[in-house]
Amino acid sequence: MLKMKNIAVFVSGGGTNLQALIDAQERGEIKNGRIVFVLASNDRAYAIQRAEKADIEHQVVSRKAYASSEDYDAAILAALEHRDIDLIVLAGFLSILGPTVIEKYRNRIINIHPSLIPLFCGDGFYGKKVHTAVLASGMKVTGATAHFVNEITDGGAIILQKAVPIEQGDNEDILQYRVMRQAEWEILPRAVSLVCEERIRIVGNRTEILGATN
Ligand code: GRF
Repeated sequence: MLKMKNIAVFVSGGGTNLQALIDAQERGEIKNGRIVFVLASNDRAYAIQRAEKADIEHQVVSRKAYASSEDYDAAILAALEHRDIDLIVLAGFLSILGPTVIEKYRNRIINIHPSLIPLFCGDGFYGKKVHTAVLASGMKVTGATAHFVNEITDGGAIILQKAVPIEQGDNEDILQYRVMRQAEWEILPRAVSLVCEERIRIVGNRTEILGATN
């Protein structure tokens, strides 16, 4: 019998990926997992309102309140203590996690990135900056990636990806919304469910999905 996984979602902004997780949970699509805590890196994140509406415990651990990333890491670990968190999901979380958190939650932190990694990722590639670079490249497709987090920014093993077309006349706003709606909001809940079901095996820097792929 698998242990029901307690999920903590980390947010910084609008929280549309958090909302996708909440909605998927309500539809029964997150197997063997439940969102028990939301941690926001600033007190203006609209994601906080989404957690409140869904009656999910939440806390602001403001990145600005800590001088160093080591101190911020310690504050994050303190917020998670006694909550028996099995999985951390970074959903539009804009702060960098330090080595202490990554080590403690090795292979138990998932991030959603708005490009097809290894393209347009790494330091400095976040939010609309990603889509600006994608449009400048002239590529005809882009997409999103759900991946494990390690010490390399956007460097952990890829869990799921989904491609979306780039249309004539797209700008960063139009493209960001298409990537979120058609890719991020679909693959993040699915990736979280697969990890909660313990159906993801990590082989080097790659993953395999165990059991019938539905
Ligand atoms: C979006 O750019 C998304 O691609 C990335 O973080 C940004 C905000 O996401 N993951 P959210 O609406 O706060 O989930």
